[in-house]
Formats: sequence, structure tokens, C-alpha cells
Amino acid sequence: MIFKEEKKLYIETLGCAMNARDSEHIIAELGDKENYVLTDTMQEADLILINTCSVREKPVSKLFSEIGKYNKRKKEGAKIGVCGCTASHLGEEIFRRAPYVSFVIGARNVSKIGAAVNTERFISVDTDYDESTYAFGEFRHSLYKAYVNISIGCDKKCTYCIVPQTRGDEISIPLDLIVNEARKAAKSGAKEIFLLGQNVNNYGKRFSNKSEAEVDFSDLLNKISEIEEVERIRFTSPHPLHMDDKFLQTFATNPKVCKSMHMPLQSGSTHILEQMKRGYTKEWFLNRALKLRAMIPDVSISTDVIVAFPGESEEDFEETLDVMRQVKFEQVFAFKYSPRPLTKAAEFTNQIDPEIGSARLERLQVMQDDILDEISQSKMGKIYPVYIEELRNNGFLAGRSDNNALVQIKGDESLLGQTLNVEITNPKRLALYGEIVL
Ligand code: SAH
Ligand code: SF4
Ligand code: F3S
Repeated sequence: MIFKEEKKLYIETLGCAMNARDSEHIIAELGDKENYVLTDTMQEADLILINTCSVREKPVSKLFSEIGKYNKRKKEGAKIGVCGCTASHLGEEIFRRAPYVSFVIGARNVSKIGAAVNTERFISVDTDYDESTYAFGEFRHSLYKAYVNISIGCDKKCTYCIVPQTRGDEISIPLDLIVNEARKAAKSGAKEIFLLGQNVNNYGKRFSNKSEAEVDFSDLLNKISEIEEVERIRFTSPHPLHMDDKFLQTFATNPKVCKSMHMPLQSGSTHILEQMKRGYTKEWFLNRALKLRAMIPDVSISTDVIVAFPGESEEDFEETLDVMRQVKFEQVFAFKYSPRPLTKAAEFTNQIDPEIGSARLERLQVMQDDILDEISQSKMGKIYPVYIEELRNNGFLAGRSDNNALVQIKGDESLLGQTLNVEITNPKRLALYGEIVL
């Protein structure tokens, strides 16, 4: 074996949970094969990586401001690398705009990180590259919760979204690889398994190897729940279009599947949903969400909303608010539409004035805050089993209830990794504070 001198890696991750998992894969590959150890101090790093997001313009500008700053302050001889979705979409342009960057690797080329650090001006941004069966090394930021990828890419063509261009076509990871990874993580203490994909409930539609046995997302959830050490299963993102009765039934009845569902609405207007190519109507969305509420009284539902999509009228926007009033989401991630290169909607000629977008976003947020106040007050006195995952800087322990409420309690490190019954004594909009009950 060739001895490699220990080097320090500083990594910044933007974007979604899939990027967070890609960063863990990068850290594992560089640790196992290139002898890199992590540092929190950029100035002492030999390698500075930024794992980028392209979903809106803001994170793209952030990439260039961050690497400019790193380049000025980095240690003599340190390298800067750019990975992730913006690497996929801008490719060579990153070298032109930031010539001090040593390598660029796309969101689907993570396994090439070893070659990247050992080659001058390495670039690999191939969105057809298939990493669905690549055996990445082991690295996890949390001891208690394990992210596990179940697919790569996305087959949908939502007209506003750049992700299919940065992550390529959807390929499911074979069932046995997922189950083995979940088992290994659970046996080493991660009682919560968090399944990741752009469209998780479309699982099983295409595998790298065509002879893979037929299986869908409900089957996968059931298989993972058979692992004894797994106590909780979460997943993101499911697509409202694929929320058939079988899926809702599995979700409702499998006791290890946590009762919180992400249902990305995007818009409440059927007309805008058509323009977005989401494949469902306002009525279908409401039918699924209200069915979930009826099946599981304590379920929590979160959503993503885009305001001011091209052509969105005041009436269309009102339809979104109407869905929010009817469903009363426990969490809403709302963003103003951001035109993305390589997407259809960026070419639409009926773009909305950004000021109208900001005003709508503000109205939506004011309304959601009122809904949240109502929801959090209704939690007063309730008792939830909470899986304690983190000791926060504020001195509180934090964890999640089964239905994904953030709960904070007083206590020390010895309680990490335990599931405790907590009575909510002080519910706030962003976190519920409580006390342990026996
Ligand atoms: N696959 C996931 C979403 C991934 S992108 C899904 O379908 O739910 C995460 C969120 O970013 C999307 O749900 C959407 O609300 C938002 N988003 C995507 N493209 C956007 C754009 N061009 N402008 C504003 N928000 C966008
Ligand atoms: Fe983007 Fe739509 Fe795919 Fe989600 S489902 S990643 S919003 S194209
Ligand atoms: Fe995720 Fe951003 Fe890419 S949301 S898929 S890192 S564009």
C-alpha cells in the first residue's frame, strides 16, 4: 500500500438532503483512499470543496462569492474544488469565471473525487454517468440518523426545475443494496433511516440492471421496516402524483414509518400546475392531503410552494392560499420563482414582476405564521415520543416527534440517541419546548 500523507479537507454544502448525502460520500472517499481528515477551519485546509446547488439563482451567486473569499484567505498551495448541481450545469464556465478552481465534478460524478484531487484541471460533469450501484465508503455526520439514497436523477420535467439537467435521468438503486446499507447503519446506532430521492414514490421504475425484480416504494418501506434495529423511517421527496392508495395505506399502517409527509404542492391553481407540468390538479392534491388527515389524525404535512410562476394571476395565487387554508400545513417552504437556464419556463413570455412576487410571498408567509401559531398552541399538554439527536448551542437537547415536530428539552449528552416521552409545556412557532415524563 502506498502511504499517503494526512491532509485536511474543508467542505461547504449548499442545497438539499441529496447534496448533504453526496458530501458524506465525498468525505468517505477522500478519507478512505486519499487520507483526508475533516476540518472546520477553512484556513488550515489543503483542499476546500464547495458542493453546490442550482435550484434558484441565489445559491449559484453564493458559489462565486464563497470561492472568491476562500481563494483570498486559503492556506498557501491549498486547492479549491467545485462539486454538485452547479458544477453539472455550468461545467467549464466555472474555470473561466474562477480560474483558481482546480477541479469541477458534477452531481452524478461523485465517485470520481479521487481522480479529481490527483489530476490538474479535472472536469467531469456527465449527467448520464451511472453511480447507482457504486459502493461508497462509510461516513455519516450523525450517529443517530442515516441518510440512504434510493435513486439518482429525476425523470420528471417540471418546467421550472433545473434538477433533471443537473442530476440526469432517474435510476433506482437495487433493493438489496439499500437494505444492506440501512441494516449496517442501524446496527451501528442510527435508529432512524432517512430515504432520499427526487421522487421517492416512483421507486423501482428503472434499474441499471434490467433483470432486477419488480418492486415499488411501498415494498421498499416494508422491507426496511423488517430490520430489527430500525425504529423510524422517513423519506423525501415523494411526488403528489404518485400518492396512490397502496402508498397511503403503507404509510398509514406501517408503525415504523414516521407520520410526517412532504407533499410538494408548488401551486394550488390547476392551470399553473399544468404550465408547470406537475401532472396533478388542485382537486387531486386536496383529495390526497385530506385523505391522509382522515387516515392519520396526528399526521403532519409539509410542502413546497413557488409563488409568481410565469402567468400566475391574482386568482391563481388565491388558489394556493386556499389549499394552504384547507390543508393547514405544519411546514411550508415557499420561494419566489427563479428563472433557471435550461428550463422551459425560463422561456415563457409571461414572467411576473419580481416585486409582485415578493408581495405575494410576504402575504403567504403572514398567513402561514397564523396557521402555525394555531397548530403549535394545539400541541400544549400533548405527550410525544421524541428521538433525541442533538445537543444545541442553546444548551437544549433537540429531537423530533414521530410526526416531525422539533422538540427541545433540558438535559445532557447522556440522553442522546434515546427515545423519550416528552410533555409539551411551552409550544412556540418554530419549536415545542417540553419536559420528560416517565
Ligand atoms: N424533487 C423535489 C424537489 C426538488 S427542488 C420535488 O419534486 O418536490 C426543491 C424545491 O425547490 C421544489 O419543490 C420547488 O418548490 C423549488 N424550486 C425548484 N425550482 C425552482 C425555481 N426555478 N424557482 C423557485 N423555486 C424552485
Ligand atoms: Fe424538479 Fe420536478 Fe424532478 Fe422535483 S420532480 S426534481 S421539481 S423536475
Ligand atoms: Fe438539490 Fe439544489 Fe441540486 S436542491 S438536487 S442540490 S439543484
